[in-house]
Amino acid sequence: METKKETLTITDSRTGKAYELPIENETIRATDLRQIKVKPDDFGIMTYDPAYMATASCKSTITFIDGDKGILLYRGYPIEQLAEKCSFMEVAYLLLNDALPTKAQLDAWTSLITTHTFVHENMKKLMDGFHHDAHPMGMFVSALAALSTFYPTAKKIHDPEERKMTYYRLLGKAPTLAAFAYRHSVGMPYVHPDNELSYAGNFLAMMYRVAEPKFKPNPILEHALDVLFILHADHEQNCSTSAMRSVGSSHVDPYCAAAAAAAALYGPLHGGANEAVLRMLDEIGSKDKIPAFIKEVKEGKGRLMGFGHRVYKNYDPRASIIKRLADQVFEVTGRNPMLDIALELERIALQDEYFIKRKLYPNVDFYSGLIYQAMKFPVDMFPVLFALGRMSGWLAQWQEMLLDSEQKIARPRQIYLGAGKRDVPMLSQRS
Ligand code: ACO
Repeated sequence: METKKETLTITDSRTGKAYELPIENETIRATDLRQIKVKPDDFGIMTYDPAYMATASCKSTITFIDGDKGILLYRGYPIEQLAEKCSFMEVAYLLLNDALPTKAQLDAWTSLITTHTFVHENMKKLMDGFHHDAHPMGMFVSALAALSTFYPTAKKIHDPEERKMTYYRLLGKAPTLAAFAYRHSVGMPYVHPDNELSYAGNFLAMMYRVAEPKFKPNPILEHALDVLFILHADHEQNCSTSAMRSVGSSHVDPYCAAAAAAAALYGPLHGGANEAVLRMLDEIGSKDKIPAFIKEVKEGKGRLMGFGHRVYKNYDPRASIIKRLADQVFEVTGRNPMLDIALELERIALQDEYFIKRKLYPNVDFYSGLIYQAMKFPVDMFPVLFALGRMSGWLAQWQEMLLDSEQKIARPRQIYLGAGKRDVPMLSQRS
C-alpha cells in the first residue's frame, strides 16, 4: 500500500511564493529552507536555534528518551531492566555493538578491556607534573588527550580494527587514569590494575588499596558503582556527547575527541552538577535553612542544583533508581547526614509553585553525589566518576557519527549582526 507523503507548506510573505517541504520523522531538513529566497543570489532562509532547542543534529539508534513520560532506553532496553539484570560491561557492549552479548561474547569483551587497563609508565610522570591540589577532572581531561600521543595509529579512524583497539584502550584505561588522578591528589602511590577484579571492583582497588596484599571490594558498593556507571552510560545528544561528535567530526583521533567530551562534562551545568549539589547541600548546612535557600533560588539568586533537565519534564528515571540504590549503600556505609537535607529540599521544592510550573524535578545528579560521598569519593572526583560511565556512550556515538554517510564536519551558521565593512583608523586617530 502506498503511504501518503507528508509535507509542510510554507508561504513566503515577501514573495507570495509557496514551498512544499518533505516531512520525515516529524522533521524537515533545514537545508530544504535554503531554496526560499527573494533574489536568486540570496543565501536562502536559515533556522535560528541557539542551544539546539529544536534541532536534530543526527539520526541515531542508540538511546531513546521520552522526557515527558520519564522513559530512557538504550538500544530499546529500559534503563530499569538494564540496571537490574546487566553489568556495566554488558551495557558498554550493547551500546557499541547494538546487541546484548552472549556469555562467550561478554567473556571475550571483558577480557579484552581488562588486558588494556595498564597505562604507559610515562603517564605517571604526566600525573606527577600536576600541582598537588589540581582538580582530578582537569588531570583526567589532560590524560585522555595525552593518550593520543601514545597511540598514534588511532588516527586511522576509518579502520574498524583500530577503532576496536580504541574502545578496549579507552574503556580499560579510563578508570586507571581516574584513580591515578585521585592518588596523586592525596599523595599516595599509584596502584596498578588488578585484572582478577570486576570493572568497578578494580577501580575501587586502584582508588583505595593501601598495604593489603589483595584488595577485596565490598560487593554492595562494587555493585552500586557498577549500576551508577550503567545509569550514566549514555543520554543521547547531551552537551558532552555533542562535543564528542562535533570534535570527532573533524576526524581528530578519538582520544582527543574524548578529552573534549570530558571537558564539556566538567561544567557545572552538566557533569559537574553532582559536585555542585554536594557543595550546595554543604552550604545550606541544616534543614531549617532550606526555606531561605529556596526563596533565594526563586528570586533568581542561584539554582537548585540537581533539579531540572533539558529533556525530562516529568521525572528522571535514573533518579528513582539511584534513590533506591542509596538505601543499599547507606546500609553499608551508614547514612549520609546530608541525605536529610536533600530529602527535605526535594519535598519542599516538589510542592512549590515555582518548580511545579517549570516542571523541575530531581535529575540523576541530585542523589548520585550522596552515594559517592558515602563511598568516600571526594567531591572533586564526582565528575570523573560520571565520565567513566559515559565513556561507553561517547564511543558509541562517535562510531555512529563516523559510519553515518550524511555526517560532515560540524560547522554551524551564524546571524551576523556586527558592524558593516569599515576602514581601520591609525592608532593616533582612535578615541
Ligand atoms: N533551579 C531553579 N530554577 C531553575 C532550575 C534550577 N535547577 N533549572 C531551571 N530553572 C528555571 C530557569 O530559571 C527558567 O526559569 P524562567 O522561565 O523563569 O526564566 C526555567 O526554569 C527554564 O530553565 P532553562 O535554563 O531555560 O532550562 P534548560 O533546559 O536550558 O536547562 C538545566 C536545563 C541546565 C539542566 C537547568 O535545569 C539547570 O541549570 N539545572 C541545575 C544544574 C543541573 O542539575 N544540571 C544537571 C543536568 S543533568 C546532567 O547533565 C546529567
